[in-house]
Amino acid sequence: MSAQLISQLTTSLRGADSDAAAKEAPRESVGRAVVWTAAITALGGLLFGYDTGVVSGALLFLHTSFGPMSSFDKELVTGLLLVGAMVGAFVSGKLADLMGRRPVILITAGVFVLGVLAAALSPTFWFLVVMRFVIGLAVGSASMAVPLYISEVAPPRVRGALVSFSQLALTLGILVSFLVDYSLSSSADWRLMFGLAAIPAALLFMGMLTQAESPVWLVTHGQIGDARKVLTRVRSADHDIEAEIDDILSVSEHPARYRELLRPDVRKLVVLGVLLAVFQQITGINTIIYYAPTLLHQAGLGNSASLLANVGIGLVNVAMTVVAIWLIDRVGRRVLLLSGTIGMAFALFVVAGTFAIGGDTLGHSASIVAVVGLVVYTVSFAIGLGPVFWLLISEIYPARIRGKSMSIAAIANWAANFVVAVTFLTLLNAISNAGTFLLMGFLSLVAVVYFWRRVPETKALTLEEIEREMA
Ligand code: BGC
Repeated sequence: MSAQLISQLTTSLRGADSDAAAKEAPRESVGRAVVWTAAITALGGLLFGYDTGVVSGALLFLHTSFGPMSSFDKELVTGLLLVGAMVGAFVSGKLADLMGRRPVILITAGVFVLGVLAAALSPTFWFLVVMRFVIGLAVGSASMAVPLYISEVAPPRVRGALVSFSQLALTLGILVSFLVDYSLSSSADWRLMFGLAAIPAALLFMGMLTQAESPVWLVTHGQIGDARKVLTRVRSADHDIEAEIDDILSVSEHPARYRELLRPDVRKLVVLGVLLAVFQQITGINTIIYYAPTLLHQAGLGNSASLLANVGIGLVNVAMTVVAIWLIDRVGRRVLLLSGTIGMAFALFVVAGTFAIGGDTLGHSASIVAVVGLVVYTVSFAIGLGPVFWLLISEIYPARIRGKSMSIAAIANWAANFVVAVTFLTLLNAISNAGTFLLMGFLSLVAVVYFWRRVPETKALTLEEIEREMA
């Protein structure tokens, strides 16, 4: 990210000063340092998006090195990343509480570099399968450690925007992976498709070397002097650092064990994070991001029109995440989450209706309605459940147990992602396109009711205030 862009972001984040919402929170300007921190660590999100996205194109060319690929072989290369991500989210949650957030992101970046380079150089098919699992470890770890770290470094007034940088980078990663796949398809260079991810991974590693540990982790581990130094760097000159340290101390006890997640007050938050995670996946986002071209092609759209629709959906995902970043600290998390999920339900019903009326092969105008439905769905996800899920799970848990609780929510997200990925095509066969979209629309409505009743508003509150409110 260029210095000019950083400075624009800094200015636009400062611009929130004039906003009514910002008046409720402590007033402080956002230093460049903290915007840089968010931008550097968000590279973890970019890798998450790129590594999950790149495989769809690479799969087409693996046979050039390893001979014919069965459907099961392809599922292994795709699905083992998701299994690795579950394990990665689990391990890194433990490590993030134990050794700190920064070393976990450094290790994650190191695993990314080694994993993608080894995958690119794979001598055999099975070596590649194992490397996809290893890359998955890093993807799962990054998915939770990055929002966790940013949320603890960011000032409350702009925490939503800064944490959501990583969702923005994720959507960019998906888009870039589609474009890389497309541009390398003429040379069938699947090794380069995988290997290019080493560049952002190395940048993440080097960038993270310049960053300090999260002040919240330092305070909860008794390293007050170091926390003071970090806060001096990432807070404005007029910020009351001692008050912030006292506030963190007032809510933090000793770091907790997994057993504590079962305590009724903590358990209800764990259930909230897990259900948010599951709803994010079972309402179908990844089926649409990854299967849209297949669906549209089967529905009657030409090959290049389907691919174009896919790039369009990727672009919409990126653009609307920018809008979400702009809105999230102004209108709050709940408004975005509820309106976004209602929009998803509406769009899914439109797509279901189109398939119900037109059958699985659509005519010209019906396929346009289906494409519009998919775009509306993506807009709604990108403005709500996409960024808000990862943000909320970085906010709602008590500091002493944040890493472990977040990792449970992240594992649930990856597990649900896996289940949807392996059942989606079977569902299409069993209950037709219309039935599948109807089901996802119905699940979105159930999600709206649950979010309405259970999701708290965390806008402009400090993490410590949230912790007191949720207790
Ligand atoms: C989800 C991913 C999804 C991505 C799409 C994320 O919030 O967790 O599963 O691929 O959004 O933008």
